Amino acid sequence: MTQGPIGIFDSGYGGLTVLKEIISELPEYDYLYLGDNARAPYGTRSFETVYQYTLECVEKLFKMNCSLVILACNTSSAKALRTIQQQDLPQMDPSKRVLGIIRPSAEIIGDYTSSGHVGILATPGTVASNSYLMEIRKFFPALKVFQEACPMWVPLVENNEHYNPGANYFVQKHMDNLLRKSSYIDVILMGCTHYPLLINKIQQFLPGGVRVLEQGRIVAKSLADYLKRHPEMDARCSKTGTCQFFTTNSGEFFEAHGASFFGQPLRARHLEL
Ligand code: DGL
Repeated sequence: MTQGPIGIFDSGYGGLTVLKEIISELPEYDYLYLGDNARAPYGTRSFETVYQYTLECVEKLFKMNCSLVILACNTSSAKALRTIQQQDLPQMDPSKRVLGIIRPSAEIIGDYTSSGHVGILATPGTVASNSYLMEIRKFFPALKVFQEACPMWVPLVENNEHYNPGANYFVQKHMDNLLRKSSYIDVILMGCTHYPLLINKIQQFLPGGVRVLEQGRIVAKSLADYLKRHPEMDARCSKTGTCQFFTTNSGEFFEAHGASFFGQPLRARHLEL
């Protein structure tokens, strides 16, 4: 049996906010990150396009020896995961696994609310898929879930405009929209892995007593639990503590922008799909 790294995929840089937490939880494993920056953002693309793009990237990660791939992208988890798991995986290699990040977030969100009203901030694609509504209902059927699509947030972050005052308008607009949907919301999940970069601005427009959840730690804990429950998959993951970064765009560009998501400098290479 050959061992390989755990593949972490996102449309762009956002998955780095998840990878950072995964490495801190599971530092001994090897990781291979792939950002499809050349085709990001995914959040405003059709179901078919997100599925095709995600499938190509998963196939690439499989070819690069990953047996386990995490879609650290809500949009791909919402629009592509189920079809890949049910249709493609059995044909490609039934022993490999692709996991998403919506379910682990849905599993715990109810533990953080007293009012029973929770908010989800996400891309238009994730919101339109209703994946959060469906997944949360499985674990917390009584919760009232309010969603807000924020189409400009990923482009702001991908273009490094999120620190600028111009971004305030778009952040305030969607925070106000969400909070108008229910004044009882006491927990808001950032259901897009790019959004942690906007946390300072989000907090600026947040009323007191409302908590914001970030997915990185949630996904990291869920992955640790998964590997414990699946020793056969754990045995296929190599453990020399390395991390490689690939992007479908320019490696230099990825290095310059990715560091603020990852929290430290990184070396990246261009990858042809
Ligand atoms: N980080 C992706 C997510 O979690 C962003 C999707 C996009 O590229 O728009 O949804």
